[in-house]
Amino acid sequence: MSHNSFGHLFRVTTWGESHGPAIGAVIDGCPPRIPLTEADIQPFLDRRRPGQSRFTTQRQEPDQVRILSGVYTETDGIQYTTGTPIGLEITNVDQRSKDYSAIGNQFRPGHADFTYDAKYGIRDPRGGGRSSARETAMRVAAGAVARRIIPGVTIRGALVQIGPHRIDRNRWDWAEVDNNPFFCPDAGSVDLFTTYLDGIRKAGSSIGAVIEIVAEGVPPGLGAPIYGKLDGDLAAAMMSINAVKGVEIGAGFGAAELTGEENADEIRLGNDGAPYFRSNHAGGILGGISTGQPVVARFAVKPTSSILTTRQSIDRFGNEIDIMTKGRHDPCVGIRAVPVGEAMMACVIADHFLRHRGQVG
Ligand SMILES: Cc1cc2nc3c(=O)[nH]c(=O)nc-3n(C[C@H](O)[C@H](O)[C@H](O)COP(=O)(O)O)c2cc1C
Repeated sequence: MSHNSFGHLFRVTTWGESHGPAIGAVIDGCPPRIPLTEADIQPFLDRRRPGQSRFTTQRQEPDQVRILSGVYTETDGIQYTTGTPIGLEITNVDQRSKDYSAIGNQFRPGHADFTYDAKYGIRDPRGGGRSSARETAMRVAAGAVARRIIPGVTIRGALVQIGPHRIDRNRWDWAEVDNNPFFCPDAGSVDLFTTYLDGIRKAGSSIGAVIEIVAEGVPPGLGAPIYGKLDGDLAAAMMSINAVKGVEIGAGFGAAELTGEENADEIRLGNDGAPYFRSNHAGGILGGISTGQPVVARFAVKPTSSILTTRQSIDRFGNEIDIMTKGRHDPCVGIRAVPVGEAMMACVIADHFLRHRGQVG
């Protein structure tokens, strides 16, 4: 299977299956002499790790990352990147493959079983194999390395909607995001989310969510017109996350309801003579190039397709079947998609930072 890499100058390749011995990534193009140890990566993996609340899968994976290559401890005692490929590995420790024996020859509606079989004629069904979001752990690890390349950029994500329930944006407080199991920035919505998702979970069902990722401190000029647009690359990166079905930049689909006067972000000069924008409907990107405003991306995550309710499908042999998915699944995969979205934002911005530096110095 090809197409396991993304990025141009900061290029990430991932490998591994959900129930294989390990998953891993190779990061090519990271500049040399950046201090980097496992301790710089692990906190981000810990935020994505499964089994941390009753609202995520109960699979217990410590997700302990190992750096296998691309770093060297200098005479000053600091471990730096060397500019050579950085190899990362996480051992899988909590596979329960027997949960999947029943569906090895069956196609779960809404999952990738049918299309993988149609394309390759063979697949590893255990835990979803390569289509499992276990792979996203490596994106989070790569994102942690990407952040080291752009230390002036702060990238944060939050869950802003579960099912029909939206947060109150007037109560947005970034400090709340790590105080609840939903990555929710609105403390006032947490009780409602809890009751609602408990109902979904106990019914053996699942539900979708909307995630917002904000990058602050992005300098103006990153991105390129036409085929190297920052928003184009961000959209592709977010859409590549498992279960994402829609991506917006800035006002996004809401821009269709705005007039030109409402939508166009007016520009003035500040006291220091530097230009500033009076609003940010553009989501920090104009003509594919960053404006210097916060870069804002939102994505919609569909409900987990593996549910306990019996559904109609077919098997590999052309028989119509009724299917019910056992195993351990997140009732709302959007929750753990938050650190993954942050990581994809970090990788894309780091890549564009290097590409910008490569062209204009
Ligand atoms: C963090 C995360 C965890 C996921 N966990 C599950 C899961 O437990 N069960 C499941 O059926 N799908 C899960 N998914 C979604 C599937 O990986 C995804 O729906 C599947 O690969 C098909 O791809 P598509 O939905 O992008 O078309 C998860 C997605 C994310 C982002």
